[in-house]
Amino acid sequence: MKPIELAKNVYWVGAVDWLTRDFHGYSTNRGTTYNAYLIVDEKITLIDTVKKQYRSDLMHRIRNIIDPEKIDYLVVNHVEMDHSGSMPEVMEAIKPEKVICSKMGQKALLKHFHQEDWPYHVVTPGEELSLGEKTLNFLETRMLHWPDSMFTYLKEDQILFSSDAFGEHLATSERFDDEVNQDVLMHEATKYYANILTLYSPLVKKLIAKVQEMNLPIKMIAPDHGVVWRDNPGKILEAYSRWCVHEGKGNALIIYDTMWHSTEMMAKAIADGLQDQGIGYKLLNLQVNHRSDVMTDVLEASAIILGCPTLNNGMLPRMAGFLMYMRGLRPTNKIGAAFGSFGWSGEAVKLMNKAMGEMKFTICHPGLKVQYVPEHTHLKECVELGQTVGKTLNDFIAGREIASVEDII
Ligand code: FEO
Repeated sequence: MKPIELAKNVYWVGAVDWLTRDFHGYSTNRGTTYNAYLIVDEKITLIDTVKKQYRSDLMHRIRNIIDPEKIDYLVVNHVEMDHSGSMPEVMEAIKPEKVICSKMGQKALLKHFHQEDWPYHVVTPGEELSLGEKTLNFLETRMLHWPDSMFTYLKEDQILFSSDAFGEHLATSERFDDEVNQDVLMHEATKYYANILTLYSPLVKKLIAKVQEMNLPIKMIAPDHGVVWRDNPGKILEAYSRWCVHEGKGNALIIYDTMWHSTEMMAKAIADGLQDQGIGYKLLNLQVNHRSDVMTDVLEASAIILGCPTLNNGMLPRMAGFLMYMRGLRPTNKIGAAFGSFGWSGEAVKLMNKAMGEMKFTICHPGLKVQYVPEHTHLKECVELGQTVGKTLNDFIAGREIASVEDII
């Protein structure tokens, strides 16, 4: 097995997980990787480890390059179990001189593994550490996406080891950005941002500004998941600059669930209204679209139209679950509207408007309820709702002021 070299004496020693299909509620249809990196210098340094089940893959790759016992430093950029789960066994095997982590990293390691006697070396933001010929610099990235998160920068080779940031869940035989299909790569990177980082977008914005201000030369970005950006690290940095402001593409999503297809009939008529206004849209039935795929579309959408019938004075469980998930990720900068059929009480529309209000969406229509099965006049009202969203969106795109419907939540 040939070692995978990023630069002279800098190696990828991680593991490819072809099996995982769920990452705490996020569907990982293309598997993932747990990336770890080995720097061979006077002080041999391992950056991050892997998920517990993949410890032998990591050790095998390291042994292919050096005797693991020769490792002097272990850098822990992030304590979440997909990167630290194998640490107890790895620590036993390598017995490093230092476990390098952030202040919060040490706290998290103690809470995870309860090992008071590990040789923790807490780094302060900006601190430099010489490995011999190469130098590491540590950047604090607290809450991207855990309190302990940090980046490690390898000065001489200009490689940014970026932990979870700039990654994607993608299992491939290839290790570098220029070796994989670009559409698949960017789709998975978008999905990753949407489902992991949307909530932390204000911090991403600050981080990008800080990196620009530091004028840090970046030849490669080496994240903990997916491929290493060696050909075009600017591509993912540019994408993050767009995603962190939740910039929509001028399109609309109709996200709905339906019981006896009445709400679905309404959804289709609303789509006709959007079409009248020249707005591109997607119809996303939650019965066949996973919440994490829907969130991927939400990140780059300009308008969100939610549809759900009323069940037991509330919403159908899929819509309730989706709203809980979306509210947690807190997308902003969206135009919203709601609709749904009902039998006798009809609370769902109000509840969806409330959820969108809490996310500070600009709600441009009071919402539309239809009892039991819509007839032609009802469907015309649905078309009008779609037209209203479309007009609002066109005003928004043109930079004209848009009005929110008041007092509906
Ligand atoms: Fe990939 Fe936050 O762990």
